[in-house]
Amino acid sequence: MKNQEKVNNLIDRRKEAQLGGGEKRIESQHKKGKYTARERIDMLLDEGSFEEFDMFVEHRSTNFGIDKTHYAGDGVITGHGTIDGRIVFIYSQDFTVFGGSLSETFAQKICKVMDMAMKVGAPIIGINDSGGARIQEGVNSLAGYAEIFQRNIMASGVVPQISAIFGPCAGGAVYSPALTDVVIMSDKTSYMFVTGPKVVKTVTGEIIETEELGGANVHASKSGVAHFRADDEDEGLMLIRKTLEFLPQNNLEDPIQTVCTDPIDRIDDVLNDVIPENKAEAYDIKNIIYTIVDKQEFFEFQRHYAKNIVTGFAKFHGMPVGIVANQPNYLAGVLDIDASRKAARFVRFCDAFNVPIVTLVDVPGFLPGSKQEHGGIITHGAKLMFAYGEATVPKVTITLRKSYGGAHDVMSSKQLRGDINYAWPTAEIAVMGSKGAVEVLEARSISKMTAEEAQAYIAEKEKEYNDKFANPYEAAKYGYIDDVIEPRNTRFRIIRALKTLAGKKDTNPPKKHSNIPL
Ligand code: HXC
Repeated sequence: MKNQEKVNNLIDRRKEAQLGGGEKRIESQHKKGKYTARERIDMLLDEGSFEEFDMFVEHRSTNFGIDKTHYAGDGVITGHGTIDGRIVFIYSQDFTVFGGSLSETFAQKICKVMDMAMKVGAPIIGINDSGGARIQEGVNSLAGYAEIFQRNIMASGVVPQISAIFGPCAGGAVYSPALTDVVIMSDKTSYMFVTGPKVVKTVTGEIIETEELGGANVHASKSGVAHFRADDEDEGLMLIRKTLEFLPQNNLEDPIQTVCTDPIDRIDDVLNDVIPENKAEAYDIKNIIYTIVDKQEFFEFQRHYAKNIVTGFAKFHGMPVGIVANQPNYLAGVLDIDASRKAARFVRFCDAFNVPIVTLVDVPGFLPGSKQEHGGIITHGAKLMFAYGEATVPKVTITLRKSYGGAHDVMSSKQLRGDINYAWPTAEIAVMGSKGAVEVLEARSISKMTAEEAQAYIAEKEKEYNDKFANPYEAAKYGYIDDVIEPRNTRFRIIRALKTLAGKKDTNPPKKHSNIPL
């Protein structure tokens, strides 16, 4: 072959590889409302930035006649490119080739980009759309998965790992996304489960549809496996780009500060009045978040799961921060099992990637009851405590209203190495609310009274308790909070706190690893 013929041959081979499983299967993919693996990469990465590896890799299996069918690339597209000019490594499973199923060589391709991401110190993005282990490859496929899992584990906390699920993700395959930092599922076109509806029926007799068992809605609202439920793949891809905006390339770097046009000394008078006079009345913490952050932009994580705690990224003066806030609008902002797990994971995510944490507190305590106790609220609550106490990033805490009992300690209190702890004048930092306190302290006296006497006595004692404890000054007296601030100045005070803490260095004692109550 002459040189030009060789070049033409290369071009032909590339064209063929780019067709994956062929036009018919691409058409079928589109009919299901899904993009192809290549289209997803093109849409996600900066234009023209994608460099592909291993386009000509083929499987080596001979079982069940599969040796008669080969596709260049073997069902997964791998390589690197940029997002907003920053390098990322990526793999995208191609459902048009053997249903995106994972073979030995398929796994090797993924491992190659994961290894490179670790060497370079860049995020790794996995787009999942696969029928799972390639059945013809047997144990080699299982081994391939385990190679990926091991790399997910090693990369955890070193480079950001983001998983998008845009099709099937079943069986052991679910564990790669589960080991990553962020899981995004497309609504109606994706599902994740360890065992599908058929096996569920055989083993347990339960009859359940795919969507109900492991659709995006279920994982975004019930299990908490997914951080985002995207309306479609376009939104899913946007969410990947958005997430990376708040993260550094790796754990040795800081998140990138961007130019901020929103004044840092903006006074928000509305905040002075935002806490209802009636202590039992709810309000939406998100309105407060939107008011204080740059340009009212809050990128919420796990929006549909454990709504009693709000987590997400925002910026203060262009500086990325993680926000954790109790939500009085939902279950009065109480800490329960799900909320504790959700917030703990988010705090650790921020800490791993040097994202400072701003905590907004209005928490009546831990949710009482046998369901919570038997479900292990002690262990799950301890997770959140552990996460805050272990975190070494700058931690700024603002107590808006209630901060009672154990929940007070947990929510980034001074003693859990909260760096700067402010309170609004409406804050109540105490062991418990006045009603509960009087019931415990005065039970004996009350039992000897008539109903009328008791009513007046309780009211008097509650007032006494409120005067003494339902304020921020008792805590301020001991230096447990650093200042009582005017609510309308909150944005400015947070920004100044974050700037002050920018050079903060804190460490944990040398150890193999901690033993967080999992
Ligand atoms: C080999 C597979 C495959 C697989 C699909 N295909 N899954 N080939 N191994 N696991 C092939 C099909 O033969 C078909 O080939 C093409 O991919 C598209 O599949 P369809 O069934 O036509 O597509 P669809 O109707 O959309 O159904 C998708 C599906 C179904 C629901 C994913 O294919 C399915 O149930 N697949 C098997 C899933 C499974 O049980 N996987 C193993 C799970 S256990 P042609 O040539 O016709 O286009 C597991 C263990 C992992 O994964 C353990 C890790 C530790």
